[in-house]
Amino acid sequence: MNRLDSVSMGKIVVIREKLLDAQRKGDKIYRFESGDPSFDVHPNIKAAMEKALRENKTHYIPNNGIPELREALAHKLRSKNGLAKIEAKHVSVTNGAMHALYVVYQCIIEEGDEVIVPDPMWTEAVEDARLAGASIVPIELKPENNYVYAADEIGKKVTPKTKVIFLNTPHNPTGAIIPKSELEKIFAIAKKHDLWIVADEAYEDVLFDGGTHTSIGSIDPSYEKLISVYSYSKSYAMSGLRVGYFATLHPLFNDRASKLLRCTVNGINSVAQWGALAALKEVDQSWFEEMNAEYLKRRDLFLKILSEQKVLTPFAPKGAFYLWCRHNTDSNATALSEKLADLGIGNAPGDCFGSSGESLRSIRFAFSCSTKMIEEGSEPLIKALNS
Ligand SMILES: Cc1ncc(COP(=O)(O)O)c(C=O)c1O
Repeated sequence: MNRLDSVSMGKIVVIREKLLDAQRKGDKIYRFESGDPSFDVHPNIKAAMEKALRENKTHYIPNNGIPELREALAHKLRSKNGLAKIEAKHVSVTNGAMHALYVVYQCIIEEGDEVIVPDPMWTEAVEDARLAGASIVPIELKPENNYVYAADEIGKKVTPKTKVIFLNTPHNPTGAIIPKSELEKIFAIAKKHDLWIVADEAYEDVLFDGGTHTSIGSIDPSYEKLISVYSYSKSYAMSGLRVGYFATLHPLFNDRASKLLRCTVNGINSVAQWGALAALKEVDQSWFEEMNAEYLKRRDLFLKILSEQKVLTPFAPKGAFYLWCRHNTDSNATALSEKLADLGIGNAPGDCFGSSGESLRSIRFAFSCSTKMIEEGSEPLIKALNS
């Protein structure tokens, strides 16, 4: 069997195709299935990309990213994330955070190594580990614990085969944020057992209602076996431009990663990298404030809509842009999801995020679409749930 045969293609993709097909036939659809920010890219980022094109910055670029961007990212990681020891040479630019995760696991996993992950978890982050030959060890996130990834539970699952603790905060699909106190405990476990930590911080800037983000790397910026992963897709709504990056102090990892980047993408789109540099230098704090004010509005609108029905119990997130709900119907996750998708209402069934999504009868709605779409989708959603 080929290793790709055990990797799932993702039910969300199937739902998206179904919705787009319905739209082509003239039906009204509501895009609550995927996490693609509705915002336009900031004009300063667009201008920098146009300038790069005009100046013919379209040739081969260094494998791990243009030096100006790596330098600026290192500065960002030190000053904003508290990764005090990171320099440009520790940062690699990737084709989105998704590519970063692929590279990360290929560089550290040997066949049969165990990777501890939260369950539920955004599918691809787990598949990338599996693809590298890892055995997945899920930690169920409990609604009664506000879906926090609990260090105590992680500690119980460490074995001699454990290689990595993966974490994601703010979390997709629940929106839960791991508090600093819990991150400290997770860090202590990793240190005690000499484990790698892979920290997916793709939603570090999507925070509202008092939500705050701590980078686990700030707890001990000298720890070499920590790899921090970031994305421009969520922070700057640059999802189609495909820019992400990772940073680690570990020399062996950086050596391996450089080779893998060279053998796969050989550097990501040069124009997008100049745009990414402008995002750091020419986009001010008000971008995040406005974006997050809009997400808060959308979250509250969704919560208000769902208060008019009794089938779904939502968890109110303070980060990321997903509403993770438990349902009390007799149908399984797939049946409820299909029923809604048939009515043009996008969603992601709980079981695509791991076994707890099914056992806890869950379903995810994304509120990264426009506020108007949520307003328009409220009536059909409530009608479907109350029928
Ligand atoms: C937790 C998490 N990590 C990483 C990614 C990948 O982001 P990118 O678009 O940068 O590849 C996503 C995308 O949805 C995500 O939810």
